[in-house]
Amino acid sequence: MSNEFTPIDHKNNSDHCIVSTLKKRKCTDDDNSYFRSYADIEIHEDMIADSVRTSAYRTAILKNYRQLYKKTVIDVGAGTGILSIFCVQAGAKHVYAVEASDMARQIEKLAAANNMQHRLSFWDTVPQDMYKINMASMRTYAEQCLMSRPHVMEVPGYWLQSHPQKLCDIDLYTVTTADLKTIEASFEFSCFGSTDINGFVVWFSVRFPGHITLSTSPYDSVTHWCQTVLYCQSMPVEQDSKVQGHLELRQSQANHRHLHITLKYRADDQSELEQVYSMGGDGS
Ligand SMILES: C[S@@+](CC[C@H](N)C(=O)[O-])C[C@H]1O[C@@H](n2cnc3c(N)ncnc32)[C@H](O)[C@@H]1O
Repeated sequence: MSNEFTPIDHKNNSDHCIVSTLKKRKCTDDDNSYFRSYADIEIHEDMIADSVRTSAYRTAILKNYRQLYKKTVIDVGAGTGILSIFCVQAGAKHVYAVEASDMARQIEKLAAANNMQHRLSFWDTVPQDMYKINMASMRTYAEQCLMSRPHVMEVPGYWLQSHPQKLCDIDLYTVTTADLKTIEASFEFSCFGSTDINGFVVWFSVRFPGHITLSTSPYDSVTHWCQTVLYCQSMPVEQDSKVQGHLELRQSQANHRHLHITLKYRADDQSELEQVYSMGGDGS
């Protein structure tokens, strides 16, 4: 396998990082901190342990082997190199694994060993102690914090108070970076019953060729992406109440990997509310 598999660590080649086939640009501080985060084993452990994700990628690659068989493949953002190995298994003639973080060091070992060293132990969940102290005074501040950024968390399907609605469809064959600068969509839900709405849940699904779907829906097996919750002002609704709104996801100017989210929403004839969420605490 090692003959067919070439890890490329382009940090070794120059002080530039390749971000596209068209131009090179210098790594910014944000890039460096992003790549440092991917040098850590834990994030890769999370991704590989997420069997919904990794199995969907594996099935998509192996089922579509005709597009890879005897071809030269470039795996941009290879991480541990696991997808590169799948491409080798699918019959690729040569796979170039491109990885900017220090994880590139490990890819070579992985290729040589010809199999993935699955880690068997993971961090234990830290137990939450009960201190028996009244901390109700923290509530307002806690709400402000909750509503200032998106929360990635596991949402049980029974929390949802309406059918899901598709906000956008992105064709990865044709999408451009300009298309992704801002994504916006309006939505309208019909509520299941009388309750208080405290947030909106966002997730995605990927359709691969060959009728393979990787879903991160709360109704499907959990993945390491979980779901994203946008907490909002509590809003009372009844059976069949109409919740209408508008969601805008805008690429942050301060860090192109962060999103600035604006959510407008209202139930029936209640007045419209607006909530703004920023990733990484940058408000731009
Ligand atoms: C989401 S991880 C996926 C890792 C691996 N493909 C997998 O599925 O397990 C993205 C990886 O891409 C790398 N990466 C992101 N941008 C890159 C770039 N411009 N050049 C090289 N590697 C990059 C990151 O360091 C990270 O390891």
